Amino acid sequence: MPEVKMTVNGKPASGQIEGRTLLVEFLRENLGLTGTHVGCDTSQCGACVVHVDGRAVKACTMFAAEAEGAEVKTIEGMAEADGTLHPIQQAFQDHHGLQCGFCTPGMVMSAAALLAESPTPSEAEVRDYLEGNLCRCTGYHNIVKAILAASGQDVSRIAAE
Ligand code: FES
Ligand code: FES
Repeated sequence: MPEVKMTVNGKPASGQIEGRTLLVEFLRENLGLTGTHVGCDTSQCGACVVHVDGRAVKACTMFAAEAEGAEVKTIEGMAEADGTLHPIQQAFQDHHGLQCGFCTPGMVMSAAALLAESPTPSEAEVRDYLEGNLCRCTGYHNIVKAILAASGQDVSRIAAE
């Protein structure tokens, strides 16, 4: 089997893979990074979103081999080494942006990509950007609120739900 090498969360990572191995499978099964979830087999749910060379990518839509040499970031790479949550993670906690948590890794990674592109997005922009991330629990309201709060915007005008 061919070997693939990439950088994952700032560290070199490699493994023997089959050509058909998806990036999400490589992350979860070869590297044990199970924070990246698989919620569908139709590329719709967004639970598997990671960053590849700074771009949000559904890791179930990419072969691991396509990430050869890439810089990959997963949810495990978001918090500080001492466990301090990333500001987006903290905002999800503060604003109740999760219930079961299954969608949360993908939501956080998508939100981070959005805020990198657009540091103070409008509510409509956040909702639009999250079109590819499904949540069965929250109704999205508090997720949107958390992302706006993480961008440093005043969310006191947005009612709690
Ligand atoms: S697992 Fe659902 S979009 Fe990737
Ligand atoms: S918090 Fe349960 S799927 Fe989003």
